[in-house]
Amino acid sequence: MKAKVLVTGASGVLGNAVYNAFKKSSTNYEVKGLAHSRPTDELIPLDLTDEAKVKELISSFEPDWVVHCAAERRPDVAAKNPEATRTINGLVPLTLSTFSASPSHPFTLIYISTDYVFDGTSPPYEVDAKPKPLQFYGETKYGGEQATLGVTSEYGRRVVLRVPVLYGPVKVNSDSAINILLDVVRDQSGKQYTMDHYQTRYPTNVLDIADFLVRLADTFPNGGSSQRRLPPILHYSAPEPYTKYEMCLILAALSNPPLSHAHITPDETEPIIMPGRVGRPRDCQLSVRSIEDPVEEGGLGMSLDTQGFKEWWEEELLRGVSSNSGNI
Ligand SMILES: NC(=O)c1ccc[n+]([C@@H]2O[C@H](COP(=O)([O-])OP(=O)(O)OC[C@H]3O[C@@H](n4cnc5c(N)ncnc54)[C@H](OP(=O)(O)O)[C@@H]3O)[C@@H](O)[C@H]2O)c1
Repeated sequence: MKAKVLVTGASGVLGNAVYNAFKKSSTNYEVKGLAHSRPTDELIPLDLTDEAKVKELISSFEPDWVVHCAAERRPDVAAKNPEATRTINGLVPLTLSTFSASPSHPFTLIYISTDYVFDGTSPPYEVDAKPKPLQFYGETKYGGEQATLGVTSEYGRRVVLRVPVLYGPVKVNSDSAINILLDVVRDQSGKQYTMDHYQTRYPTNVLDIADFLVRLADTFPNGGSSQRRLPPILHYSAPEPYTKYEMCLILAALSNPPLSHAHITPDETEPIIMPGRVGRPRDCQLSVRSIEDPVEEGGLGMSLDTQGFKEWWEEELLRGVSSNSGNI
């Protein structure tokens, strides 16, 4: 029988990559993808804050895996809509986590979290490092982690997968905090930009995370056996450190013809954390030992298989698809 996978947030950047990766997998999963405001012919519209509807869908589909990508991921929007953000980022994971422990049809829940649960002062962060988010978004995602792992049951599995800032195929560049840098680089109208050169980021391609999740599901059917279970927290991250300013320089150099970046000024100042301002952690590097360490040393013994930032963008720009034309 085919394993069934439910992907929430499948209209989003990560969820779309995860949905496609499971659909294309040679293991032949039965996959359903959910959307909210952006359903398609394939993606089912469902407001995840409607618990009764979620229960109905899960009871009828009976997934073996739920990859929960839906969230409010924009720190500034989250801060402006605290109640709605608390619900989608904190309460929905609790609903899914509770359903995952159903004795009649348990499933493995993968809750996608963020490096922003850390304060960025002492990288690299191991999976057991104590979270200390600097902003409301990180707090709500940490709340989602606690909700996910707070359900302890012999039924089902609940796993938190933390990832750093994401890029990859998007509908419009503004869907990703990294892809949008291309619009800044391409704006040669004379407008001046100030670009963050304070935070060290580890931009990670959603295609790589999606591929990893398929390999994870292949390796741990039903979340693993009693001999080898999935650990509660995993970190996935590309290794290359860049500030947003450095990413702009790369995108300018890779453009054909190369573009000037004279209109972009680096900003190295440490942001002052004050009420109403979104705090920016300096360096939240995620240690990936939980994935790469050998099994006998407590890791999964799996490879990350991340692609290079420059290499992906070089190909993407050659294909000429990152032009707000939609390539999801
Ligand atoms: N983006 C990053 O750089 C980054 C970094 C670290 C961690 N993360 C985490 O990675 C995950 C995926 O992020 P992403 O960048 O792919 O986000 P995204 O592109 O903004 O997508 C968010 C998804 O959530 C769905 N959604 C929002 N509210 C919903 C609701 N009430 N009911 C059902 N679905 C709802 C959206 O559906 P519609 O669009 O159809 O409304 C969309 O599919 C999130 O958990 C995020 O916190 C992201």
